[in-house]
Amino acid sequence: MDKIIIRGGKRLSGAVPISGAKNAALTLLPCALLTDEPLTLRNLPRLADIDTFQHLMNQFGVSTTIAGSRPEDFGRVMTLEATRITSNVAPYDLVRKMRASILVLGPMLARMGEATVSLPGGCAIGNRPIDLHLKALEALGAQIELASGYVRAIAPDGGLPGGRYSFPMVSVGATENAVMAAVTARGKSTLHNVAREPEIVDLCNMLGAMGAKIEGVGTSELVIHGVPRLHGATYRVMTDRIEAGSYACAAAITGGEVLLQNAKIEEMEATAQALRDAGLHLEPRPEGLFVGTNGALRPITLATAPYPGFATDMQAQLMALLCRADGTSVLTETIFENRYMHVPELNRMGAHIETSGKTAVVHGVSGLSGAEVMATDLRASMSLVIAGLAAQGETQVHRLYHLDRGYERLEEKLALLGADVERLSDD
Ligand code: UD1
Repeated sequence: MDKIIIRGGKRLSGAVPISGAKNAALTLLPCALLTDEPLTLRNLPRLADIDTFQHLMNQFGVSTTIAGSRPEDFGRVMTLEATRITSNVAPYDLVRKMRASILVLGPMLARMGEATVSLPGGCAIGNRPIDLHLKALEALGAQIELASGYVRAIAPDGGLPGGRYSFPMVSVGATENAVMAAVTARGKSTLHNVAREPEIVDLCNMLGAMGAKIEGVGTSELVIHGVPRLHGATYRVMTDRIEAGSYACAAAITGGEVLLQNAKIEEMEATAQALRDAGLHLEPRPEGLFVGTNGALRPITLATAPYPGFATDMQAQLMALLCRADGTSVLTETIFENRYMHVPELNRMGAHIETSGKTAVVHGVSGLSGAEVMATDLRASMSLVIAGLAAQGETQVHRLYHLDRGYERLEEKLALLGADVERLSDD
């Protein structure tokens, strides 16, 4: 298993290319199941989760080819072709590795009239049920059966009729599954209180390019007019707003500045506002978003919320930054129940953070010190890297596979900005 070694204290500066969005890619890939024509995705990030999803698609009989990108390039171009689907079962082994495998349920059901997916179970950051995915599919006309750790969804007459569903709470994944199931339903579907994340807009835009008819894109109500079939398309995956925000925090904690190439401020307004409140200077430029520091970091108070609120996926990285603020910040995590696992590790690096239920009180400290720390989930791992960049001495972050799930060639990108980082094998 690999680890990353960071010798902190270097001021980061320069430009960093921001990759295609992991969470957009993970809902664009299963759309290949909706058509027998080729779907080509450009700007697909090179990440472990994408490789796992590719294996899952191959297991269904979908062919995947990667166009000749050079090893030094960021991103890839992948063409998926689901001419003939040979299996509609997503097995435990693959779903266990990656919860997002559940996103094949809707499109597989739509295409094949039946889909069986292993139940994902809990994960490090919380319980994470899929009840809303199943209720939404039922409302669109599916029959759902649960047995032996698997969920089986069936469209009774070979295809879904479509229907109405009002989500009792906002769910990104359940919205995605419902949209992908509804696009080829026989009738009209209306989905209320859907998630409005930019990744969902990206999904709807790509489905539109494949021939889907979706109204209300970007709002909390989607009206989907089912079409008999979708065709292939070529589509560029949106920029990763969470990766962009993470590098902004990384540069800021070192007192540095960074040009986040390809980042779009309009897709990350809540993060941008939090960074401005913390005293950073942000400037949209033609090539991306420039982030610089204006002296001392200020403490802030905020709560995570569904988009357009502050993303739970940015909470850990922002917390690392606020460890160095001039005063006490208060963060409240409202989306997941167990998303403070980075706190004890940050405290081992000299941070002063107290948690009580959903709330974390971050008392700014004058310095952090390097330590050996253990990554527990993707964003928690990045928060430890960010802290390590500002810490005195050496920080070793173990269990790097978490970071490889969501940050394309992290150590290379940090090195581009002047960080002293090294990837080593733990063995
Ligand atoms: C997605 C993102 C993840 C992000 C999260 C919230 C992907 C691959 N992952 O995850 O990075 O942190 O959105 O922005 O895009 N819930 C239920 N029942 C359900 C579904 C969800 O109770 O059927 C709850 C969850 O436990 C959680 C909340 O709803 O408390 C939001 O989860 P959801 O938006 O569904 O997150 P994911 O789609 O799993």
